[in-house]
Amino acid sequence: MDFSRVTCFVIDLCKQVVNYGVPESLMNESMDVFKEFFEMPWEDKAMLYSEDPKNSCRLSTSSVNYAREKIHHWRDNLRHPCHPLQDCIKHWPQKPIRYREVVATYTIEAKKLGLRILELVSEGLGLESRFFGDKLSESEILSINHYPPCPDPSLTLGVAKHCDPNLLTLLHQGDVSGLQVFNNGEWIGVEPLHNVFVVNIGNQLQIISNNKLKSVEHRVVTNSRVARTSAGFFIGPSEDSIIEPEKSLVDDAPFYRAFEFKDFLLHYFPNLEDNEVVMGHFKSQA
Ligand code: OGA
Ligand code: NI
Repeated sequence: MDFSRVTCFVIDLCKQVVNYGVPESLMNESMDVFKEFFEMPWEDKAMLYSEDPKNSCRLSTSSVNYAREKIHHWRDNLRHPCHPLQDCIKHWPQKPIRYREVVATYTIEAKKLGLRILELVSEGLGLESRFFGDKLSESEILSINHYPPCPDPSLTLGVAKHCDPNLLTLLHQGDVSGLQVFNNGEWIGVEPLHNVFVVNIGNQLQIISNNKLKSVEHRVVTNSRVARTSAGFFIGPSEDSIIEPEKSLVDDAPFYRAFEFKDFLLHYFPNLEDNEVVMGHFKSQA
């Protein structure tokens, strides 16, 4: 990606970042550890299984809406916060043995890359480069997906269509395709490139930029041949952050009202497949 032209960083499709500074060996090793985690026997993972979204490290299946969703998704998911590291790491999986060490380094590098991208986005928007640097990017969540081969991919999805609710996502796809983005009325596959992060604009970046940056709808399709593993590194605001369109980016009237980020999440999860309903709730009345 050519960051010298960052004023053109109006993202309506996923952008992929190459040559960015996260060592290739670390990307490979992390993906290996993620795969090993899901390959372990159930006894080694069972203690992490939880249906309570508040659990700080949780293994689950399908989505947080399991009880309410009409069609279950063909995926298992391990997710945990990564910041502050010394508090979070003790809840992370103890197996594979090297999980904590490898993943800690990976998340530190991913955060550095995410902050660098956010600095460039800020400059592109005409904001000071540290604009997103503190509370707006305080939360870091690693979400690792495992999609087993699906006997009939026409019957379900790996993840149904959604926009990410956070500020910015770095998605590490592994080497099996499945991710699709919605563009001009059709679903387009984002082919995995080796050791590359797909950068997704989250809902909060769309709101703060007053629609100058757009969050893209995406989903995951399954296949009947091979398992797919992916890891999303979600950078987002602290729950008590006040989110609103940045004044200098508002021309006439803001598109959205001010709200607390935790209220966004409360409204997001029950409606996550309908981005218009999610965003409509936070539209400005003016
Ligand atoms: C997600 C997501 C895509 C993928 O977890 O929010 O969009 O490729 N994942 O697994
Ligand atoms: Ni997503």
